[in-house]
Amino acid sequence: MTETKKILRALAGETLDTPPIWMMRQAGRYLPEYRATRAQAGDFLSLCYNSELAAEVTLQPIRRYGFDAAILFADILLLPQALGADLWFVTGEGPRLSTIETQADFDRLTPVSEIDAVLSPVYDTVRLLSRELPEETTLIGFAGMPWTVATYMVAGRGTPDQGPAHALKDSNPALFDQIIDLLSEATVEYLSRQIEAGAEVVKLFDSWAGSLKGDDFDRYALEPARKIIAALKARHPGVPVIAFPRGAGARYEGFARATGADCVALDDGVTPVWAAAHVQKDGCVQGNLKSSHMVTGGQALVDETRRIVDAFGKGPHIFNLGHGITPDADPENVQLMIDTVRGR
Ligand code: CP3
Repeated sequence: MTETKKILRALAGETLDTPPIWMMRQAGRYLPEYRATRAQAGDFLSLCYNSELAAEVTLQPIRRYGFDAAILFADILLLPQALGADLWFVTGEGPRLSTIETQADFDRLTPVSEIDAVLSPVYDTVRLLSRELPEETTLIGFAGMPWTVATYMVAGRGTPDQGPAHALKDSNPALFDQIIDLLSEATVEYLSRQIEAGAEVVKLFDSWAGSLKGDDFDRYALEPARKIIAALKARHPGVPVIAFPRGAGARYEGFARATGADCVALDDGVTPVWAAAHVQKDGCVQGNLKSSHMVTGGQALVDETRRIVDAFGKGPHIFNLGHGITPDADPENVQLMIDTVRGR
């Protein structure tokens, strides 16, 4: 069958006249309809585990903007929760988790074979979405990458420099490697379940890859990505994988080749002209527009959007932001970005 969904065509390496478009965190607090549904759910985690409402917020940006892809509404920290970590969100501050500092903390975690007891509502969300999405819209599942998830599990919260995870990896590499291996195995199971439920593409978020330097980048970002992608491809041949090693800088070059990713998501730290020459030569790229344009709008948004579309115009490209849209963004600026990409 010839593929008709634009996102899947770009991921297969096709150069399209107009790039397909979606947006990281497209279901989020900048949308009044999201805030209303979240209030109905009670809090963020209750929303993630309420399949009907999670499907509803996933669909909201599709209805409003007609994006080419929907991304499952969930969070990368649901997996550590399923592995037995305590998880809660402090309003205005972010996530909090029980910490892993010792072998004994690690040994108390739940076996990978038991994660579905917590995560089955997420698979139900995927099933609902694959029934309800318009036929031209691609459904993307996702997980956090082991390094990024480990930074939260070790520190018990988000950290500006991922200091606690770096300290544990350097002082107790044997323990740290066990955490990475457990998360790698759990991630393959979690994503396989999402694919079986109807996810057509999966995205791997390594939001803190940029703090890994030199050999550490190979060991904790590149190698886990290679292993996870190989395991997924063995089980689900033909399901494309998008990798997002945020902050990778020069290490973006060669990342797709080394890991087997079908597409690399770019943050806003590289120029589109450089990335076209050094990253897109190996396949599809996605991303790069600074999220702050969704706050500031105007001619700068239009100019930057066009610059990215032009730079990536000769190869496979999915238009997206360099990171998630922020709560202070103006929904009208999102429409302006879409109209600019689609030439209206
Ligand atoms: O992109 C989407 O629309 C899909 C849903 C999605 C969420 N989180 C929902 C969410 C996805 C793909 C994520 C990924 C995620 N979660 C990452 C990787 C991507 C990135 O942003 O770097 C990370 C690091 C997390 C962990 C996380 N979740 C943090 C640090 C926070 C708090 C910061 C914040 O933005 O408030 C969250 C909360 C979160 N995850 C929100 C949403 C919509 C906001 C929660 C709310 O509604 O109050």
